[in-house]
Amino acid sequence: MVPSDVGYAKRGGVINVNLAWWDFYICKIRCQEMGRTMTAATEQRDWSTAQRDGSTAQRDGSTAQHDWSAGLARRTHSLGGGEITAILALAGATDVITFSGGFPDPATFPTGVLAEIAARLISEDAGVALQYSATEGLAGVRDYVSGRLASLEGRAPCAGQLMVTSGGIDCMELLAKSFVDPGDVVAVEAPTYLGAIMAFRGYEADVRGVPVDGDGMRVDVLTELLADGLRPKILYTIPDFQNPTGLSMTADRRRDLVGLARRYGFLILEDVAYRELGFGAAPPPSLWSLAPDVVLQAGTFSKIFFPGVRLGWAAGPEQIISRLVVAKQNSDQCSGALGQRMLEEYGRGGHLDRQIVRSRALYARRAGLTSDALAAHMPDGATWTTPDGGFYIWLTAPGGVDTVALSAAARARKVAYVPGRPFYPAGNGATQIRLAYSRVADDLIDEGVRRIGEVLRTALEQK
Ligand SMILES: Cc1ncc(COP(=O)(O)O)c(C=O)c1O
Repeated sequence: MVPSDVGYAKRGGVINVNLAWWDFYICKIRCQEMGRTMTAATEQRDWSTAQRDGSTAQRDGSTAQHDWSAGLARRTHSLGGGEITAILALAGATDVITFSGGFPDPATFPTGVLAEIAARLISEDAGVALQYSATEGLAGVRDYVSGRLASLEGRAPCAGQLMVTSGGIDCMELLAKSFVDPGDVVAVEAPTYLGAIMAFRGYEADVRGVPVDGDGMRVDVLTELLADGLRPKILYTIPDFQNPTGLSMTADRRRDLVGLARRYGFLILEDVAYRELGFGAAPPPSLWSLAPDVVLQAGTFSKIFFPGVRLGWAAGPEQIISRLVVAKQNSDQCSGALGQRMLEEYGRGGHLDRQIVRSRALYARRAGLTSDALAAHMPDGATWTTPDGGFYIWLTAPGGVDTVALSAAARARKVAYVPGRPFYPAGNGATQIRLAYSRVADDLIDEGVRRIGEVLRTALEQK
């Protein structure tokens, strides 16, 4: 089954899935495992055979199903990918309580103001808003984002150090496309955002994990790895309210990390997707503000504005930004001008800052409700993180239970989560679960967590 088999209907807060994505997910993991045993020679033979047989026309005039998978490029072989597709397939679904995707709550979407701004732009500024934009983004929008960075980070990018991207993932893709050769080492937090692992693997990077603890990435472990000869070209980190753990990197570690980047000559890709969604005190200085010479910051408006607009930014050394602009010219060419202008109008009108204040309160409340529910319903021995911002809690199940295998039982109880494994580059995480509380209605959180607790308890009893 593939995600397109997933049928869903919208109804506030819960989802109704044809129960397909769990099957797809489990199948995906198994196929990936099996795929490792398939040799390149076998694949080549399959493709040659398919090519030789060529015509798929049948004697009766009908057309047989062609197996295109045999022709997939080598760089796709180590890709997952089904995980994100499966999560997105649940975007509007109902009847299952879903803690799976890192979706902002639609209650934060400013529909009234946006409708007014869109109508105005279309009637008064169509020549810009409905046109292609410069690849690096509209000048006015870059000026707005630059001003925002100056007030948030105490540092403004110079000319050529900032571009508009199509969401946060675009920056990762453009960087990988421009700087990663097959076999290049990219270090990531373990666990980390699985979209980043996929972006780097898409260009055949050798993705290595650096463990995290309650203070963020274990920079001491990275130091040892570097001393032992590891030479990453890029180090990817989410220092604030990380996906999937919800944890942040301390100020000391940030300073140590940029010191290592300077000493060993690697680029830090700093992903600040959740940086503005803290629940308490402001987070420590961003890595980019500490060391703009060795840091590329990837920002996104998906979590603070709305993801349908597909907008973000990249700020970093001019030499790198200029290469990303070239790479963007032969991918999507430019980010949508209408969305860029809407963001600019919305932001300059002060609406974005007000939206972020409301969003923080909403997500703080949901994080608290989820923590309370975990305390009430988890079996003995389960542990979980307590985030100070962002969308996620990271749960470790007791007794070695396999959270991928349990997906079917969760499905039967109409609750969804993402199992831990795809968040690691090297297959750990079997007993872990990512819970995204951001889009679960307040009054369903306790029930959803209770169902997950029930699934874990039953698995433990059957062991
Ligand atoms: C840490 C992190 N970075 C980037 C992204 C992708 O953002 P976008 O939707 O803007 O591409 C996500 C999405 O969940 C994320 O969690």
